[in-house]
Amino acid sequence: MNETALTVQQTARPHGFPSADHFAFVESPLPEPAAGSALVENLYWSVDPYHREMMDDVPGGFALDAPLEGRTIGRVIASRTPRLAEGEIVFHRQGWRTHAVVGPEEIRRLPRFDGVPLTAYLSVLGGTGLTAYVGLTRVARLQGGEDLFVSGAAGGVGTATGRFAGLLGAGRLVGSTGSAAKAGHLTREVGYDAVFDYHEGPAADLLGKAAPDGIDAFVDNVGGDQLAAAVGALREFGRIVRVGTISQYNTPGAPSPRIDHAAVVEKSIRMEGFLVSNYRALQEELYDFAVPHLQSGRLALDETVVDGFERIVDAFLGMLRGDNTGKIIVRDHTQAHL
Ligand SMILES: NC(=O)c1ccc[n+]([C@@H]2O[C@H](COP(=O)([O-])OP(=O)(O)OC[C@H]3O[C@@H](n4cnc5c(N)ncnc54)[C@H](OP(=O)(O)O)[C@@H]3O)[C@@H](O)[C@H]2O)c1
Repeated sequence: MNETALTVQQTARPHGFPSADHFAFVESPLPEPAAGSALVENLYWSVDPYHREMMDDVPGGFALDAPLEGRTIGRVIASRTPRLAEGEIVFHRQGWRTHAVVGPEEIRRLPRFDGVPLTAYLSVLGGTGLTAYVGLTRVARLQGGEDLFVSGAAGGVGTATGRFAGLLGAGRLVGSTGSAAKAGHLTREVGYDAVFDYHEGPAADLLGKAAPDGIDAFVDNVGGDQLAAAVGALREFGRIVRVGTISQYNTPGAPSPRIDHAAVVEKSIRMEGFLVSNYRALQEELYDFAVPHLQSGRLALDETVVDGFERIVDAFLGMLRGDNTGKIIVRDHTQAHL
């Protein structure tokens, strides 16, 4: 067992794109669990776009020079409560650190399904997959045969959205992403029919070529020009699912897109945003939907796994730059073969 613990702390607020200089790895003795709590050695960490939002001076944002939070999966290695047994695998929110002291009410036990790896609980079965599932079934209320456009299609939410949409019987699937290599993965592996690289011209032109007959619904991970373009491409009774706005997280002063508001009325378009945290009650429904498909092989995992806790900051910054395909996950490669 390690004798010391590491936490990642934010040391300064970024203006624009963050760098490794905004973070520090801080070493401390292993924390001692108090009575009623347990010590967890973390094995897998999620780094997410919302962490970039929390780096800013916003309500509920990261405090400077303090351990950060994030979704993580770990193993109980010492316990002072009968409610947490040594060796148990638990999900909790004290990520960005090698070890955490947790109480029984701060953890979630993960059901284990045959053939489903632990990483899936941070990707397609975790908040990422739940976001995709809610976006399609509750917000877009996608019907069989409907044509869908997904921005940020090669990321965690985007790949899950594409794969789930296929399983739900969607019609034509159009995506956008940041490179030709990722576009290739999406059409070859994930089931997208057409994918464009959003760097290659005005979004309206690129979407017009990829979806010449229009779309019924748009799952938007990105915002900006692609959102404005989708309003133009949507058919009557079209739906816009506002999931995220990653095109603006590192450019706070960027102007909002010019949306054709008259088209929203004339085409009876519905735009609805949501936070996955308000849909936790659907977790079991997601398992019921996705696990049989994972076990049968109809649903594959799209994950970029980065080995080594010491690379967690690089993994986070790389995700913001678009280095990942699918959900980005950091793994303790010395331990995490469960
Ligand atoms: N509403 C909710 O509850 C909820 C829950 C989870 C996530 N989200 C949101 O969903 C979106 C996707 O999250 P995720 O976890 O799946 O992350 P992700 O898509 O796996 O990773 C972020 C991706 O964003 C793309 N990107 C970066 N800068 C961009 C820009 N300027 N324009 C367009 N794309 C850019 C990059 O891919 P490219 O190579 O394609 O540029 C990168 O891979 C984010 O906006 C996030 O905030 C919302």
